[in-house]
Amino acid sequence: MRSSTGVKAATPVVVRKASELQSVVAAWRRTGLVVGLVPTMGALHAGHANLIRAAAAENDRTVVSIFVNPLQFGAGEDFDSYPRPLEADRQLAGVLGASAVYAPTPGEMYPAGAATRVRVSGLSDVLEGVHRPGHFEGVATVVAKLFNACRPDRAYFGQKDAQQAAVVRRLASDLDTGIEIRVCPIVRDADGLALSSRNAYLNTEERQAALSLSRALRSANTAFLAGERDHGELRRLLHDTLRQELFANVDYAELVDPNDFVGPGQLAVLAVRIGRTRLIDNHLLGEPFAAALSG
Ligand code: PAF
Repeated sequence: MRSSTGVKAATPVVVRKASELQSVVAAWRRTGLVVGLVPTMGALHAGHANLIRAAAAENDRTVVSIFVNPLQFGAGEDFDSYPRPLEADRQLAGVLGASAVYAPTPGEMYPAGAATRVRVSGLSDVLEGVHRPGHFEGVATVVAKLFNACRPDRAYFGQKDAQQAAVVRRLASDLDTGIEIRVCPIVRDADGLALSSRNAYLNTEERQAALSLSRALRSANTAFLAGERDHGELRRLLHDTLRQELFANVDYAELVDPNDFVGPGQLAVLAVRIGRTRLIDNHLLGEPFAAALSG
């Protein structure tokens, strides 16, 4: 799909209701404008910035949704403490080229009596799905609702949440949405840490310990590039590297097929708890490591 040359608004309007967003987007589409959606939970960082920039470059209008989705958090997870800097996010989204920010309240997203859930079976039942029961049902439900509220031509997700991206692709295809799903590369800090809104929870020591994730992925990748193809050996490298970090508690470190997330395969996936913060990361073995941010 080619983008026409619509002029982008400088300050994004904040839209609170799905019906309002549907009207805004319908008006754009009537004039032939192509629309991109970047779903987020806010606390925007350079990883989100990449998604918004990509959307703004490939579409005439970009909608950034900001909604901390209660359905995808389990009991005892960080729903209450999740950062919500809405005004700063709105400004950043505008600078990056967004035309609208969709920030519904929980009551608007899930009015009393809402009883529908979207579930992508198979993909939702392994790895993250095992460690965070119900998580992908929450993600799939909110993403389906965001797709209906916005009806974009394209939607943008980050490769850091690789399993989520696979769930969303399946959902978009199975529900005949016609939406093109674009998955953008992981953005890493100069020291290798994959960007995540949850990195803000890490203290200095924990941040240092968190580098064990990218270190483990690099060690498996280096071995793979040197010709190692034994999955047991590559998996051992992941675990050995993580075991050297005292603060790291491994939920899983596996090599899976990037299509169904069942092993063995070439995608190295990790979930590791550092103190009270749970981090995930991944790398497709054989690919170069993401260019790190400078500074
Ligand atoms: O990746 C996220 O930030 C969230 O899981 C998403 C896709 C916005 C759904 O709440």
